[in-house]
Amino acid sequence: MRTPYIAGNWKMHKTTAEAEELARSLVRSLDRENKKVMIAPAFTALGPVKGCLEGSHILLGAQNMGPEEQGAHTGEVSVLMLKDLGVEAVILGHSERRHKYGEQDDLINRKVRLALSHDLEVVLCVGETLEQREGGVTRRIVEQQIRGGLKEVGDLGRITIAYEPVWAIGTGKTATPKDADDTHGFIRDLLSRLYSAKVAEDTVIQYGGSVKPNNAAELMSMENIDGLLVGGASLAADSFVPIVRYDTGS
Ligand code: PGA
Repeated sequence: MRTPYIAGNWKMHKTTAEAEELARSLVRSLDRENKKVMIAPAFTALGPVKGCLEGSHILLGAQNMGPEEQGAHTGEVSVLMLKDLGVEAVILGHSERRHKYGEQDDLINRKVRLALSHDLEVVLCVGETLEQREGGVTRRIVEQQIRGGLKEVGDLGRITIAYEPVWAIGTGKTATPKDADDTHGFIRDLLSRLYSAKVAEDTVIQYGGSVKPNNAAELMSMENIDGLLVGGASLAADSFVPIVRYDTGS
């Protein structure tokens, strides 16, 4: 059984005071939910938000991290620093990191292995651009990103895959639940080929890209969609809480 896993990626938003206010409000509203919930504030708010999450089930995530433990890496934040702040999960390979900051699979893979070696959970993001989708290479791209990101990763116990078609992120365009589910099914088959049927069955695959309160339930009703990675709609309790509380009616 895969536990539904809903994560909020706050991206480059919110001062410390704003982040704390939202975190407190989520703790009040969501603590009885039996789904897995993670929020990923900006680096500067991680420590203060951790304080607000004390005693709650909501996990603290980071949006990125450097590929080395320490050293001359101006502007980077290390896994040791994240651990020091009580971070439990990290989002890696987000399309904004790939497309705006040139991150490639090799670098992402180094980060994935480093995070795992320090017992962080990883949300590994993959997804095609509009051009790639229209060119009919969605599966090839997703496979390449998964093989690249998971190179030499033997155990997927702490890995969640987030399928986020780049053209659906922040654009208001969502993949239809059926289209998303097709790609999720492809990812699960790939994990079965690369690992085992059991690993494929156990791995949570989130969908991300313009998830809103009005499409969360339908997306989550699909066979291979086990969770959601939410950007814009995670920035306010009145949109994130109903997403987490989606009810598929089943
Ligand atoms: P969005 O972002 O929900 O604003 O489309 C999703 C993401 O980038 O993780």
